[in-house]
Amino acid sequence: AYVVTDACVKCKYTDCVDVCPVDCFHEGPNFLAIDPEECIDCTLCVAECPVSAIYAEDDVPAEQQVYIRLNAELSQQWPVLSQSKAPLPDHADWAEVTNKLPHLQR
Ligand code: SF4
Ligand code: F3S
Repeated sequence: AYVVTDACVKCKYTDCVDVCPVDCFHEGPNFLAIDPEECIDCTLCVAECPVSAIYAEDDVPAEQQVYIRLNAELSQQWPVLSQSKAPLPDHADWAEVTNKLPHLQR
């Protein structure tokens, strides 16, 4: 499955959801999570993300491995988002920031 990682936190551009053929993105307050059971590995979402937050599970950087579990867990708790919407208001301030896990809201 594909995995949304740190760069998405507090940005949530949502361009990714428009191309997903199986609607497997789920929306939380400041992050999206992919349901690994639904993702068909089509790769289409990867190029859509302006901050390159989406990786194949096998390619998730070492320091971001926790996001594999988080996508599985949070996608079960959050509703599906299938149409893009405006990014979070202060997305530009957070786009270049790393290690945003402490800011991820449940
Ligand atoms: Fe959806 Fe394809 Fe991205 Fe998986 S890889 S989340 S199926 S767009
Ligand atoms: Fe997040 Fe990128 Fe999608 S910032 S909402 S993974 S377009």
